[in-house]
Amino acid sequence: MPLLEVAHLVKRFAIPGSRSVVQAVNGISFTLEPGETLGIVGESGSGKTTVGRCILGLTDISGGGIKFNGNDLLMTRKRNPASLRGQIQIVFQEPADALDPRMRIGACIAEPLVVLGVSPNERSRRVAEALDLVGLARRTLQLYPAELSGGQQQRVGIARAMITRPRLVILDEPTSALDPTARAEIIELLVGIQKQLGTAYLFISHDLSTVRFVSHRIAVMYLGMIVEQGEAASLFAQPRHPYSVGLLSSVLLPNPALRQPFDVSLSGEIPSPINLPTGCFLASRCPFVVDACRTRIPPSVDLGDTHRVHCIRHEDIKDMQRTTDLFDHFQAESERILSVGAPVSS
Ligand SMILES: Nc1ncnc2c1ncn2[C@@H]1O[C@H](COP(=O)(O)OP(=O)(O)O)[C@@H](O)[C@H]1O
Ligand SMILES: [Mg+2]
Repeated sequence: MPLLEVAHLVKRFAIPGSRSVVQAVNGISFTLEPGETLGIVGESGSGKTTVGRCILGLTDISGGGIKFNGNDLLMTRKRNPASLRGQIQIVFQEPADALDPRMRIGACIAEPLVVLGVSPNERSRRVAEALDLVGLARRTLQLYPAELSGGQQQRVGIARAMITRPRLVILDEPTSALDPTARAEIIELLVGIQKQLGTAYLFISHDLSTVRFVSHRIAVMYLGMIVEQGEAASLFAQPRHPYSVGLLSSVLLPNPALRQPFDVSLSGEIPSPINLPTGCFLASRCPFVVDACRTRIPPSVDLGDTHRVHCIRHEDIKDMQRTTDLFDHFQAESERILSVGAPVSS
């Protein structure tokens, strides 16, 4: 049974004083197995954070449903919140924002246990355990957040999330604010913790290289829709949506040494989520667009092995890929950028 099942999730934000509505999440579905990582990737504004906030219950949902452990999550949260006690946690992009600057690190890490009513003795034991888990020295407990580096602060953020022994952690751009060395260290730490404890991750990032490294499966978001999802290795070896291909090419663009054999530059601006197009949301930017794309949203095509894509031109994209080595380049470039070992799922 999946740990998390999100079905046809919709989230709209009303704009105060206006009739307009922000269509932030437009009917997305995915599942997450225990101990698995699903990477959610997409440009800024595609709705990634909103999905995380819906799951955490930080915002209400406009449609669809979420199941956790087989039960309706929103209903459980209302009727029996104690049964969820610390089972879903979050790690934020800016560790400094997530930590109270006036609290010593020891208190920061212990805080979620205070909320759960865990005794002081048990708290100290669990804090020491969490500190070991994230590789911080004991003396760190006496320090304040500002006395730590960005990487150390993010270790505190992770310790704080893991201390309740969650089954699911939502990681919202957890390495985006870090320098490359700290980024590689935090990625390896997260992968190591998952191996040790079997925690499931929803790993949200706009950075494809990082997502590729940590994820078993990947969902590509664009304007509140998942345009393609599947096993990380196959989605990266054979992306079938022009938007996924575009994201892959964009990783290679900054490196002049790599030529662009299959350049899918996405031209133009992202449409506003207040005024979504009728057909495929990518139509205005897509180099593969045909008339039919503009008339209705492409249906989900099942490519087998959980690989699904919303694009009527996915066969043509497959044919084109045979003649390129974009994906070998991407792999090599990602490893160079991240300076970490092989992905978790290759
Ligand atoms: N509280 C809110 N009120 C109105 N619009 C919002 C709110 N939160 C997010 N949005 C809008 O929803 C869209 C998706 O945002 P977000 O989930 O933060 O995207 P991402 O995390 O992928 O960058 C954006 O257009 C954003 O401006
Ligand atoms: Mg975000």
